Amino acid sequence: MKFIIGNWKMNGTMAEKESLLKSLKSVKTKNKIIMCLPFTLLHGENFGINIGAQDISNHENGAYTGDISGKMLKKAGVKYVLVGHSERRKYHNETNAVIQEKATMAIKNGIIPIICIGETAAEKKSGKTMSVIKKMITECTPPRGKYIIAYEPQWAIGTGNTPTLNEIAYIFSKIYEIVPKGTIIIYGGSVNASNAHDISKLPHVDGLLVGGASLKSRTFLPIIKSVN
Ligand code: PGA
Repeated sequence: MKFIIGNWKMNGTMAEKESLLKSLKSVKTKNKIIMCLPFTLLHGENFGINIGAQDISNHENGAYTGDISGKMLKKAGVKYVLVGHSERRKYHNETNAVIQEKATMAIKNGIIPIICIGETAAEKKSGKTMSVIKKMITECTPPRGKYIIAYEPQWAIGTGNTPTLNEIAYIFSKIYEIVPKGTIIIYGGSVNASNAHDISKLPHVDGLLVGGASLKSRTFLPIIKSVN
């Protein structure tokens, strides 16, 4: 069984969510589909599809205007939450330490954190990919509890560029050696219907994190079907 996780980022209305989730429900798949939606779309009819959020506060509750707590997410039926997405690191200055706190808070509330890691284009160019990945895993993962690792090279997100299959296979074999046995490791960054099958079949690749292509059933369903 593979994990196919959609990340809607800051997109979508309730009507669009209902339409996509309804179409997901009709697809026959042995894989696990999870949709990480904006906070405003977490409530309402989810048609039996697993729902995830895109961020969680590192605080329990209190004077943190605009933040959403683990308890609130749990009550809204959330089972998974993205933490440390590169857009959060870039636009909200999230550090590895904050990301670890967020992952810990998710686990405390019975939510599985999907911890995003990945190098920038400059880091790749200077041969630092593996050292960046190792540091992120060491500093972002919580001391206990189950989590998912999403390897998303930052230069691959929303660009149409992906690492080669050999590069992905190499990096996943290394991540597999670092994380606790049984940890789910998924790939993200410009996944589409043409590359999803080949990437998902690589050793140690337990699934895919899909951004842009998860917004519409026209682009998302072919990915799900190709991974079957
Ligand atoms: P993308 O985004 O599929 O649009 O590249 C992936 C992500 O940011 O999770």
